[in-house]
This record gives sequence, C-alpha cells and structure tokens, in this order.
Amino acid sequence: MPSLGALVVKPAVVVLFNEPMREHEPSEAGVVSEVEDVVAALESCGKSVESRSMSSGSLLSTLGGLAERRAGTVVFNLCEGLDGHSQWEPLLAGLLEIHGIRFTGNTATTLSWALDKRVATAILRAAGVPTLEGWVFQTASLADVPRTLPFPCIVKPVGEDGSMGITIESVVRNVEELRERVSWVVETYRQPALVERYLPGREFNMSVVGEGSGTRVLPAAEIVFEGYGAGEYRVLSHDAKWHVGSRDDLRTIPRCPASVDERLGTTLASLSLATYRAFGCRDYARIDIRLDGDGTAYVIDVNPNPDISRVAGLALAAAEAGFTYERLVNNMMETAWKRPL
Ligand SMILES: Nc1ncnc2c1ncn2[C@@H]1O[C@H](COP(=O)(O)OP(=O)(O)O)[C@@H](O)[C@H]1O
Ligand SMILES: [Mg+2]
Repeated sequence: MPSLGALVVKPAVVVLFNEPMREHEPSEAGVVSEVEDVVAALESCGKSVESRSMSSGSLLSTLGGLAERRAGTVVFNLCEGLDGHSQWEPLLAGLLEIHGIRFTGNTATTLSWALDKRVATAILRAAGVPTLEGWVFQTASLADVPRTLPFPCIVKPVGEDGSMGITIESVVRNVEELRERVSWVVETYRQPALVERYLPGREFNMSVVGEGSGTRVLPAAEIVFEGYGAGEYRVLSHDAKWHVGSRDDLRTIPRCPASVDERLGTTLASLSLATYRAFGCRDYARIDIRLDGDGTAYVIDVNPNPDISRVAGLALAAAEAGFTYERLVNNMMETAWKRPL
C-alpha cells in the first residue's frame, strides 16, 4: 500500500508575469525582480517552478498549454497588465478563470473594480467605507468646474496605479492650475482625470492577506514625510515610489509598524477589512488610507495584487506579523492550489 505522502499530489507551479514593454518605466521593469523573489521563495520550499512571461503574441498558446495541464498546475499570477497596458490586468485573470486554471491572487472582477478609481469610489461608498467625493473631467476643456470644488485638490488619472501621473504638481490650488493639470493628465494618459480634496494628514498602507474567515490585517505601515516645509504638499509621487535615491524617495520613509494609538490602529484595521470584503478580495491586497486635518480616516486607493517582492510593503508587514517571506509566498500558492474551481 502506498504511503499517504505518495498520494498527495504536488502541483507544478507556473509563475506568470507580463513581459515588461517599457524598460525605462521602473514600475513595469520591477516585475522581473518580483518574479525572481517569488520563484526563489517557492523553490526554497521544494516546489518545482517554471516562470513564463506573457505578451499579446504568446497569450493564446500559453493559456492553451496551461489549460491542457490544469489538473496538476497552479499559476502564481504576477501579471500586472499586458503589452504595457494596465487595463488588461483583469482580463488575464478572467482568462485563467474561464480556462479553469487555479491561480493566486484576486479575481478579474475585483481587479477591474479597483482599476477604475471612479468605480472603486462607488463600491466603497456603497459599503459605507469613508472615501472622498470625486469629480471626473473627461476632457481638458473644463467647461463647467463646480463652484464647490474644495481647493486644494489632487488630480489623478482614473485608471492608473503605482503613482503614475502623481507629482507635486498634482495638487492644484485654483481653477487655472486645475485646468492645466487636467489637460496634462487627459493628454498624457488618454483617460479622464479624477479630482478630489487634498487630505493633509498622515498616510498609511494597510496590507491584508487571506480569504473568508482566514482574512488577516497585517500591521499598519506609515509613509513618513520628512523634511517637508509647512506649506509643502505631501504626496507619494512617482519619483518617491520608483526612483531610488531621488529627492522624493529620500524624504518619504516607510515605517512598519506605524506608530499609532489604539483607537487609530483599530480604525485603520476595520476600514481595511471592510474594504477587502467590499471588493471581494482574496489572498492579498493593500489599502491606502489618508487622514484629514482633523484625523478622520479616508480610504484613497485599493490595490488588489500589490507588489509582492521581498522588499515591498506587503512582505515587510508580513514579516512584522511573524511570517517569513517564504511562508507568505508558499501559503498563497497552497491556498490557490486547494481552491475549488
Ligand atoms: N485625496 C488625497 N489627498 C492627499 N494625497 C493624496 C490623495 N489622493 C492621493 N494622494 C497621494 O497620491 C498618492 C497616489 O495616489 P493613489 O490614489 O494612491 O494612486 P495610485 O493608484 O497611483 O497609488 C498617494 O499615495 C498619496 O500620497
Ligand atoms: Mg496608491
């Protein structure tokens, strides 16, 4: 009689990622080191791992191959888009779902809800999670700017992430600056601009992992803005996020665990959990929260499938909670493997 161990099927793990198109764009090129970290973590736990890059040209053949061996395969999904287009990220997850292939991370529905900040805001509002009112400008003409616009405001592209299009100039103080910035966003990113009130308070990144009753909020991390002048707007710009050693990078310091009192800690955790549930998240997500001048917390951004590199915020928060990187990555893979299709 075979031993029990022999009966346990070990899956083949395929780490799937988008072929970076714009080598000069660090938010895209970063997927390569993320893949290396995940592969190393899986291999260190004895998994047989293969990594596959995806582009539109290889999409159908790769999916066909995975579908043929779906019974013994689990995909670690690190696709953040396709051919440089982040709007295709949900479609890839959808194709894995349609083909009955097990994969880590969030579903197409969750990814698409979060991708469009207009939709995300509506979902947060429907769930009763505090978020800001947003004004959407489809064109740069700004024929009718509401008189009630609460300056200073921040202008962001509706469908980007990773602080794409966010610089200190994103914060505008009057209609003239608003007009200029909206034009720039619409022309540069070929999408509408979302305008919301600028929140002057502290900024937190909340990482959440797991699924259903196993969901867990990890220790809060704060982006500490250091050396900013009194009137200087504090935003986590594209430089701060991606250009190591840049001025903004050096003065935005992630601190985990954040120094928060019990009341704020409880608020941050409960808003994050409510957001995770409202979006139907699974496996992992990062929720960005900012405080108003009076300390009121608002969810400003929802990131299903955030960066899971060894040095990224989610892994650092997990370490703070006592999970090694290897355990974090392998747990996620095992969960996906056990998930009923
Ligand atoms: N309403 C706001 N008030 C103040 N700062 C904001 C606001 N919205 C965004 N920011 C700043 O801009 C950064 C990027 O915005 P975010 O909405 O998180 O977009 P992304 O999806 O690009 O991460 C945030 O980390 C924060 O520093
Ligand atoms: Mg964000």
